[in-house]
Amino acid sequence: MDLPDVLRDELLVHEGAALGPLTTLGVGGEAPWVVEPRRREELILAVRELHAAGLPFRMLGHGSNLVVSDAGVPEVVIHTRSMKNIYHHGEQEHALRCEAGATLARLVSVAYDMRLSGVEGLIGIPGTVGGAVAGNAGGRELAIGDVLTEVTLVEPDGAVRVVPCTAEDFGYRTSPFRGAVVLDGVVQLRPGERDAIFARMKDTLGAKSATQPLSAASAGCMFRNPPGGSSGRLIDEAGCKGLQVGGAQVSPRHANFIVNAGAAAADDVRRLVVEVQRAVRAASGHDLPLEVEWWGPFDDRTPVVGAP
Ligand code: EPU
Repeated sequence: MDLPDVLRDELLVHEGAALGPLTTLGVGGEAPWVVEPRRREELILAVRELHAAGLPFRMLGHGSNLVVSDAGVPEVVIHTRSMKNIYHHGEQEHALRCEAGATLARLVSVAYDMRLSGVEGLIGIPGTVGGAVAGNAGGRELAIGDVLTEVTLVEPDGAVRVVPCTAEDFGYRTSPFRGAVVLDGVVQLRPGERDAIFARMKDTLGAKSATQPLSAASAGCMFRNPPGGSSGRLIDEAGCKGLQVGGAQVSPRHANFIVNAGAAAADDVRRLVVEVQRAVRAASGHDLPLEVEWWGPFDDRTPVVGAP
């Protein structure tokens, strides 16, 4: 099956595109096509035409919570990185409407420039608004669901649906928007003093960089925390820090990060994850559920995937 002509004519299309460079971990094979909408109309067009042509697709933002198989994926990938506008909501005072491809880093910095407080706790989290909305990305003090008031979705037929939401709709890394095509999200902020906003940004980033391998290639935390516990501590106590399979390594800095120590393959990551799960089960009896998404075919020893 081929990509509909209208998409080739209207959108940026990359044929046989390597997905590894589009992810923060940097592993994985190709997608048959990566299409890159630059405006909301182009995203709507892509969803509608792919659906009408019976071509399944996956949504890709910053690729920061993702392991792509070495064999790549058979689906079309819609990459939102060029839809990154952030602007005043218009009707809601002190609210910002953020397109799906806007990075959280940009959101934090735009809010700071506008003297708006409320998203400082998202600093240092790699990701886009679309991905963050779908997985309720967050840090110690804040997850994006805490400040979202509205999400705009694209339905398979191209219809646009605006969904109001509150913090109660979200849980620990869970979101009612998982699997949806997010067009944009509205975050409600409040006026703040520049110095105070900056100080909170600095504190949050300082705490993260003291304990996490922020400059290494990784997919962030690999496992969810068990209720009341810490996967990082369990992996550390099981003696896995620094453990390496091929180019994949359990970060010596924070045990819940698997880093690409150089030319890692997706299968190295998979084998290391299985090894860590086995070691933690043996040491403490805990089953570590995955936090990251896995795309494409992995063999039947694929690690246990976490509940959504
Ligand atoms: N710990 C160890 N060894 C390690 C790592 C951690 O003993 O190698 C201990 C720490 O000393 C601490 C406890 O485990 O006592 C918890 O560790 P930390 O404070 O680093 O937080 P975390 O629970 O591991 C969570 C999120 C992170 C988020 C941080 C800070 C999850 C799975 N992880 O980490 O999110 O950045 O809090 O807010 O929810 C992510 O989701 O990708 C992510 C990185």
